[in-house]
Amino acid sequence: MSALNVPGIAYGGDYNPEQWPEEVWAEDVRLMREAGVNMVSVGIFSWALLEPSEGVYDFSRMDRILELLHENGIAADLATPTAAPPAWFFRKHPDALPVDKDGRGLSYGSRQTFCPSSPAYREAALRITGELARRYADHPAVVMWHIHNEYGCHNAECYCDESAAAFRRWLRARYVTLDALNDAWGTTFWSQWYYDWDEIIPPRATGAVPNPTHQLDWRRFCSDALLSLYKAERAVLREAAPQIPATTNFMVMYNFDALDYWRWAPELDVVSNDHYLRSTDPESEIDIALSGDLVRSLAGGPWLLMEHSTGAVNWQPVNRAKTAGELRRNALAHVARGADGIAYFQWRAAKAGAEQWHSAMLPHAGTDSQIWRDVVALGADLKALAEVRGSTGTAQTAIVWDWDARWAMEMPSQPSSELRYLELARSWYEPLWREGVAVDFVRPDADLSQYRLVLAPSLYLVDDEGAANLTGFAERGGTLAVGFHSGAVDANCHVRLGGYPGAFREALGVRTDELFPLLPGESHGLSGGGTASLWSERVHLAGAEAVTSYTEGPLTGIPAVTRHTHGTGTTWYLATHPDPTTLAALLDRIRGEAGVEPVRATPEGVEAALRRGPDADYLFLINHGDQSAEVEVRSDATDLLAGKPVEGGTVTVAAGDVVVVREPRG
Ligand code: GLA
Repeated sequence: MSALNVPGIAYGGDYNPEQWPEEVWAEDVRLMREAGVNMVSVGIFSWALLEPSEGVYDFSRMDRILELLHENGIAADLATPTAAPPAWFFRKHPDALPVDKDGRGLSYGSRQTFCPSSPAYREAALRITGELARRYADHPAVVMWHIHNEYGCHNAECYCDESAAAFRRWLRARYVTLDALNDAWGTTFWSQWYYDWDEIIPPRATGAVPNPTHQLDWRRFCSDALLSLYKAERAVLREAAPQIPATTNFMVMYNFDALDYWRWAPELDVVSNDHYLRSTDPESEIDIALSGDLVRSLAGGPWLLMEHSTGAVNWQPVNRAKTAGELRRNALAHVARGADGIAYFQWRAAKAGAEQWHSAMLPHAGTDSQIWRDVVALGADLKALAEVRGSTGTAQTAIVWDWDARWAMEMPSQPSSELRYLELARSWYEPLWREGVAVDFVRPDADLSQYRLVLAPSLYLVDDEGAANLTGFAERGGTLAVGFHSGAVDANCHVRLGGYPGAFREALGVRTDELFPLLPGESHGLSGGGTASLWSERVHLAGAEAVTSYTEGPLTGIPAVTRHTHGTGTTWYLATHPDPTTLAALLDRIRGEAGVEPVRATPEGVEAALRRGPDADYLFLINHGDQSAEVEVRSDATDLLAGKPVEGGTVTVAAGDVVVVREPRG
């Protein structure tokens, strides 16, 4: 984020002035200034207007937009328009249209309807990118390149013949020989042995369950295919304007899992994310915090919230509006988790097009509206938080997060189809969030030296290196807690033999000889109270002690949760899914024994998060409850949003309100 040349916290949204007559633009920039907007994203879907026919360009409108923004002191995050190729492109290159799993070819007429492996698409995308880059490389308004938009949102997978050929090239690079591929995929099963690379196709719809490693490699390939497009655009932009940082907006949110962002993040100069609420989630503040912590971890520091909504979206069955104060709580919650910029989709609510019912900073109703008043007030809040920029997290606890493990566990033909990676991770994250415990997310092979406690709620697949890293962390004195059905398979999705949980068996001091997944609605009592659902295993102690055991069902008397000393550290195995209260109590004990403290003790319903600056800490207190709450802070603290010193070492956080205090260190 330090790369971004915008003062303080960036504030703005997607700006699509091409959808409006030019008379409207003057009002746009006047109102942007009124709201304190200092950066907008432009040109995201403007390919058809910028290149009316192949090789013919019209940048006159974009020239005027950038000029107007610059005159008004508003920076531009200038997008390459490659997420929406024009109709003329598809008429000339129908082969560039994607094909779905069932072999159904898709038509153009919306957006992102291109095959990621299409050479014609790549060539056309790089051509318009080059034109744009050379034209605006030195434009004073342009502070960042916004490459494409939400890679993979609509076309993460294309099953056409061109994709099949690209998949084979990717596999050849990975395995070199067919024997290695056959071995990795276990193709002696069901007569799947390949004798020729050309026999290999994407895992298209087929009669029975496709080979798991085939499916997993396909997901890896699909993520890499889009990454290669991103890198190609970035190379073109770098050549023309090496001084301008590049981003692309990630979608670290509940309903998207197509890209392995650990592989993507190092390729971005600024990591940015889009986050939308699920209307049916009664506690979407937890999803915001989890996603923010994950994005900060991907970025290795501050990041930018590129999109969220001021109110309802338009793409869920019923689109819930935000309640009083929610817009402010949501935005500042992202800042609390490390965002150095807050932006929305979009600036002005559209009157036409598929997103006409999506909220915006400036609603259909105009400035006499609650959303506009909230947007202006938020601008003032963000200005007051300028000094928070660049400060980062303080976590001593890490949650292991891995896309391979997520993809592999959610494939068909598992012991249970009820397991959801994100839900499992969130169930462990949630009690920590309630307690105000700072959390980072890490790859299995990450440097863990800064952490006391590492949690792996769900790590079905783990490679040897990742497993050794995690168990080594415990061996050297750390506390490691592992969730059920972890360590089960290796990087090729092959079962680790000799008993479960394969890779972690020894470090956890247990050995499971058989899995007993529970049916939906089924649960069994636990000694010491509480119940277990979703999963159970016949765990045998091999050094570990039983913390709790089943009091009923086929595994009565068998340990459900165990604790073990491994090297100089401690390991825990949660061989089932305890109910939320029991899980919270367990994690509380694990955390307490590991010596991890919350960032601040707060009354129930008050979220606490801390950002650490060079000489001060910034404590964010967000009251999600309906009662006013008191929180103790340092006696020399300053209330940044109120702009005054805190009196008497205590701040009051009114119901639904947010308080941010600066606490000098030392
Ligand atoms: C995504 C896209 C935007 C817009 C919003 C609507 O995040 O990037 O262009 O479609 O969704 O929520």
